Amino acid sequence: MIQKYVFGHPFETDAVVEKISPSEGMPAYGKIVLDNGFSFAYEMNEEDIVYGLGEANRGINKRGYLYISNCTDEPNHTENKHSLYGAHNFLVVSGKQTFGLFLDYPGTMKFDIGYTEQNLLQIQCDDADLDFYVIEGKSPYDIVKQFRKIIGTSYIPPKFAFGFGQSRWGYRTAEDFRNVVRGYRENHIPMDMLYMDIDYMDHYKDFTVNEEEFPDFKAFVDEMKEQKIHLIPIIDAGVKIEDGYDICEEGKEKGYFCKREDGSDFVAEVWPGWTHFPDMLNPEARKWFGEKYGRLISKGIDGFWNDMNEPAMFSTPEGVARLKNYLKEFLEEEKEAPGFRLGDEVRSLANNAEDYRSFYHQVDGKAVRHDKVHNLYGFNMTRAAGEAFRELAPGKRILMFSRASYIGMHRYGGVWMGDNHSWWSHILLNLKMLPSLNMCGFLYTGADLGGFNADTSRDLLLRWLALGVFTPLMRDHAALGTRDQECYRFSNVEDFRHVIGVRYRLLPYLYSEYMKAALRDDMLFRPLAFDFPEDPMAAQVEDQLFLGKEIMIAPVYTQNAKGRYVYLPEEMKFVKFLPDGSILQGTLERGHHYVNIALNEVPLFIRKGKKIPVVEPAECVDDIQMESMEMIGYQEGEYELYDDDGVSTVAKTVEEF
Ligand code: GLC
Repeated sequence: MIQKYVFGHPFETDAVVEKISPSEGMPAYGKIVLDNGFSFAYEMNEEDIVYGLGEANRGINKRGYLYISNCTDEPNHTENKHSLYGAHNFLVVSGKQTFGLFLDYPGTMKFDIGYTEQNLLQIQCDDADLDFYVIEGKSPYDIVKQFRKIIGTSYIPPKFAFGFGQSRWGYRTAEDFRNVVRGYRENHIPMDMLYMDIDYMDHYKDFTVNEEEFPDFKAFVDEMKEQKIHLIPIIDAGVKIEDGYDICEEGKEKGYFCKREDGSDFVAEVWPGWTHFPDMLNPEARKWFGEKYGRLISKGIDGFWNDMNEPAMFSTPEGVARLKNYLKEFLEEEKEAPGFRLGDEVRSLANNAEDYRSFYHQVDGKAVRHDKVHNLYGFNMTRAAGEAFRELAPGKRILMFSRASYIGMHRYGGVWMGDNHSWWSHILLNLKMLPSLNMCGFLYTGADLGGFNADTSRDLLLRWLALGVFTPLMRDHAALGTRDQECYRFSNVEDFRHVIGVRYRLLPYLYSEYMKAALRDDMLFRPLAFDFPEDPMAAQVEDQLFLGKEIMIAPVYTQNAKGRYVYLPEEMKFVKFLPDGSILQGTLERGHHYVNIALNEVPLFIRKGKKIPVVEPAECVDDIQMESMEMIGYQEGEYELYDDDGVSTVAKTVEEF
């Protein structure tokens, strides 16, 4: 059962698609105070677990920390961070009382989950204008499924997007791209997608390509297609300010950019230098921006990633002026030991709260200050694209994922987990975000495998890929200036060929489970406790997940480990894909086990009585031989396979397939 309470005058976010009539009075759980903004407090039991919050730091059980919904360009995902790129205000309290909450509020919102006081859940925001949903159900899993129903069907990418993709910030020339494809194809490491980071553009101008490098871009896209490679260009939120750049000129003329209080176009620095931000919340501007994707679609492009859409800013002219004043005063006064303060002052140029308060959107003829609706920007950039795709490529699926997001965006695209590091701890963070994101509707997701920032190592990349085998988005991506991270750069490439090959062997299963999860408003990844609510041990497990209805995953995320401990809430088959192509299967009893897993092996567990399809490895999704399918696991089981052409949009429900 879902109840909706309306406080004040909420901004229409479009997160929820089902009409729910508001209830009178106050919700049955916790205490709400409306005196000074909005606050909610709930006394938790020692044993209660809190799930949710989507793309957030720390554990699957969110207890013990302060999380702040405020889409942030955060390049250091260290434990002390309160905000990442997404704002997903859905959580489930499980225990003494079990209920779900969704706080539909597009500004900054704080979730203090036993951080200030160990047993107190406190939620707070500055304006008492929000829709507050309370969801009751049989279990946390049931509550999530009810919630997923009201926020609408999750985005469905084309089937090729379940292949492996290579990315790197720094590929610039046509030859750079060709070399990567050569590296993969010559080494027979499977691959379907090659990502184009900002350097494919002409001076980082959205929807342009560097014509010196790509004089005939369509021919280049076709050349890649002949090798069964989809090129996936990046699109950034900021539009370069430049005379003669038509998108900048049109946007200015039509009034489609975010404005300062005085009505002038707001200016912020991003990769291209000074930019304007398209007003993604204004439906007309959104339509205009969305149509621009057509320029690349007409060249044969069938996928994009939307970036810097928190929106991220390196500085603003106002911020630079503030800094100059500070420096002037500072130098005049000749203070001693300036370093510490000065460093802070310079760093505060980027993503500054004052700047976020200084520009406006046009919504229904009214100016809305950005900070009040900040968390909707990335959502609406991706929605601009998603809505336009229906016109630009009718009936066809286009790959789309974004960095910033809000609940509701899951209908238009997926998310990647942003700028992680080549750290072992980030494999685990990647795993923990998967079920939480699924709870909030985001099914197409994954992290930069191998790590984005800092130098990777061969073992880290292999172990991370063995998790990536299971994440819908499987992409190796690295930052400019870091060590080469393409799989063929490392010794014994056969190990990479094998590990990524396992992805393709499992692809019919992974695709089938994804599609069923999307069409049935279900989760693809679940914490163990969702399926074993009565098992107290299952509730403790934070490094294993169920994937679909048949398997459990338990990746190795410790350097130099030869295997790992696992907890099995029921008897299962332990399956290892060995480098010689064979599949080892053994039965393990319910309970704790140590399992050996070499660096070049991919483990999974098949649940009692279940079986899954596997096929022969292929070098791209198109080449998968469905005839080679065999079933592994408990042979007496049944498996419900979903399949389709992988490109046409799917409007029907899964029951009809
Ligand atoms: C941002 C993105 C990253 C990208 C870089 C350059 O940091 O998160 O993925 O490589 O910008 O475009």
